[in-house]
Parts: sequence; structure tokens; C-alpha cells
Amino acid sequence: MKIGTPLSPSATRVMLLGAGELGKEVIIALQRLGVEVIAVDRYPDAPGHQVAHRACVINMADGAALRALVEKERPHIIVPEIEAIATDMLAQIERDKLAEVIPTARAAQLTMNREGIRRLAAETLELPTSRYGFAASLGELKENIDGGIGYPCLIKPVMSSSGKGQSTVHGPDDVAVAWDYAMSGARVTQTRVIVEELIKFDYEITLLTVRAVGESGNIETFYCDPIGHVQVKGDYVESWQPQPMSEKALRRAREIARQVTDNLGGRGIFGVELFVKGDRVWFSEVSPRPHDTGMVTLISQAQNEFELHARAILGLPVSVAMRAPGASAVIYGGMEAKGIAFEGVDEALRVPQSDIRLFGKPEAFKRRRMGVALANGANIDEARARAKLAASKVRPVQG
Ligand SMILES: Nc1ncnc2c1ncn2[C@@H]1O[C@H](COP(=O)(O)OP(=O)(O)OP(=O)(O)O)[C@@H](O)[C@H]1O
Ligand SMILES: [Mg+2]
Repeated sequence: MKIGTPLSPSATRVMLLGAGELGKEVIIALQRLGVEVIAVDRYPDAPGHQVAHRACVINMADGAALRALVEKERPHIIVPEIEAIATDMLAQIERDKLAEVIPTARAAQLTMNREGIRRLAAETLELPTSRYGFAASLGELKENIDGGIGYPCLIKPVMSSSGKGQSTVHGPDDVAVAWDYAMSGARVTQTRVIVEELIKFDYEITLLTVRAVGESGNIETFYCDPIGHVQVKGDYVESWQPQPMSEKALRRAREIARQVTDNLGGRGIFGVELFVKGDRVWFSEVSPRPHDTGMVTLISQAQNEFELHARAILGLPVSVAMRAPGASAVIYGGMEAKGIAFEGVDEALRVPQSDIRLFGKPEAFKRRRMGVALANGANIDEARARAKLAASKVRPVQG
């Protein structure tokens, strides 16, 4: 294990594919360790571009463009931060030993499509999941629902994230609308959806799971305390840590996370999304990278999820210890405009034990995540109240 000097021939070079708010924090963590960072996104001045050694703008779904950039920049390590990447090219780059892909190219391939990861979890690993089916037409979708999934159910494009194109269907009359909506929200032109039984969980968690070199010198698995969160239309609005769980449910959650992450392999952090009801736990999905709900760890853990990812990637030791109960609350754009400004940051920071991140996104949309408020408290209730209060103080205005 050796880290060179940035911008010199000895540099340790890491390329982030995706330079949003999560990538930005990974980059900051890598910068602090003296790594040379190349940030890539599909638009200029993305959050991570603003803190990297070099900023590149390409269509990452274009395999040839991706390969050309990798050959030019010669990163030692490639860190995917988003799902919409030419993952077949990542696999080729890995095979050609051009660079190491975090955690593995296969993990990126399997998780970019809901079908890949669901079949791995439910059929190969036989983990508990919601009942599900796949459909490539409205007719096939109806057959799946009538054939055992029933109502209510969720319909999601197989390739989409942050709740895009997702809807809950309560009866036969809603199916056609949900199909059309899924087709409009899909990431790439494709006509395939997953339909899932709606699980009536008590709460849902993200179990941040780290595969990093342990004291033994081998890859070991480390679990952060569970993160609870609230999702609205498939997009996270609030998260907190630690989410209280029964001992049995926590053990089960870790077993599931262990099986999934062992299979995906490599080094790095994973966000394992699970549903919990009593002692029962269902696997939902997994991000082979930091998770948006894990932004709470910026204030709740000794090493936040981005530092854990950076350390794991570089083969350094990690600690998943908590610092104090914490919470995060999202700050939205609230308008459609470029170059907006934020008022009330001072008021937000007057909330006890609070902190703020503004991502620096060049363009706001009404429901675009532009920042996050963070807070500690004596318990999660206090931390949540403070984070929400701080977020409410920040007011987006025309720039
Ligand atoms: N089968 C289900 N039963 C109950 N709730 C569900 C189910 N599937 C999804 N949800 C709810 O919708 C949310 C988003 O679903 P999912 O994680 O599959 O979508 P996503 O678009 O990948 O979201 P993100 O990118 O924010 O993780 C979940 O966190 C959960 O609250
Ligand atoms: Mg999710």
C-alpha cells in the first residue's frame, strides 16, 4: 500500500464516474489522503468537478468515449458513482487490466438493472424479497399481477433510480397509467418493468456495509449502524442513524447484507436497502457505492460513508464507529432556475449541533436535491427535529 504525490509521476490516480453530491464527498475524502482525482460527469461544473484535480464532461453511457478517457487519464482505480454507465466497457477495462473497477465491474453491471440484482438476490442467493415479475408489455404486466403478485403493487422501470417512473397501483384500472409512466421515466430507451408486491413494512433501512482490508490482511466485512429513512415517491427526504431494531432483525439484516456483498465482491462501501417488519427482513436493492440516505454519516459517524469508501478503495483500515445519533434532511431547489442563491444558511446553522452541505449544482429544479441539513442530538428524535428545522431555514432564491 503506497500513495504517491498528486500531479507527479508517482501519483495515485482515481477516476470518479459521476460527480454529484455523493461523488463530491468521495473526492474530498480522497483529496485529503493525497490522491489525484479525475471527476467525470455528463454536464459541466457538476459538484464533484469543483473539487477534483481535473474535470471531464462525457456521456458515460458511451463505451467508446469512456474508454478513450480512461486511456488518456490512466487512472489506477475507477469509482462508479452513478448507475447510467457503459458497464460492459467497464468490464472490458477490468479484463484488459487498464484500471481496477470499484467494487467490481460485475457489481456495476448487476446493479444498474433491477432485473440483474433481483434475480441474483432472490433466485441465486435465495434471499427474501417481495414477490416480483418482469414485463415487456402492458399485457405481460397484467398477467404478472393477476398471476400472483396482486394489488397493491409497485411498478418500476428496470433501469431507473430516485423513484423515476415508479408508481403504486391499487387496482386493475391503474395499470395502464403506471405502464405509461414507467415508460416515460426509464433511463434508456427500453420497455421493461419490474412489478413488485407492496411490502407493508414497519420501517426501511440502509445497512451500509464495508468490504475493506482488515487486521488479518484479508478483505473483511464491517457494518455501520442501521440508517432509517423516509422516502417520498421513491426519493429520500430524511434519514437518521441509528435506527432501533430488534436483535433478531439486525442479525438477519447483516446476514443478508453479508451474502449480497460477498457475492458482489471487491472493496468499498455498499448501501444495502432492506424492509423490516417485526423480526422479518426483506432485501430490496443494493448500491455498490455510498448511498444518498448515508449522508447522515457526515455527522453521525467517526468516519463518514465517503471516507469509508475512500479508505476501503485504497486498502486502508476502516472504523464504522458512531460519533453521536444524527439525522439528515434534504434541501430542495424549489424552483427551476440556473445559478440560484440560498438565504437563511446563517439561521440554519444557529440550530444547535447542526451543519449544512450545499452541493453547488449549477441548475435547480423544484424537486432537485441542492443540499442537505445535518444535526446531532441526544437521540434520533432530537436529531431529526433539528435537521428538519435547519433544512426549513434554508430558502432558495433567484441568484
Ligand atoms: N416492494 C416494495 N414494497 C414497499 N415499498 C417499496 C417497494 N419497493 C420500493 N418501495 C419504496 O420505494 C422506495 C424506492 O424504491 P427503490 O429503492 O426500488 O427505487 P429507486 O428508484 O432505486 O430509489 P433510490 O434510487 O432512491 O434508492 C423504497 O425505498 C421504498 O420506500
Ligand atoms: Mg432504492
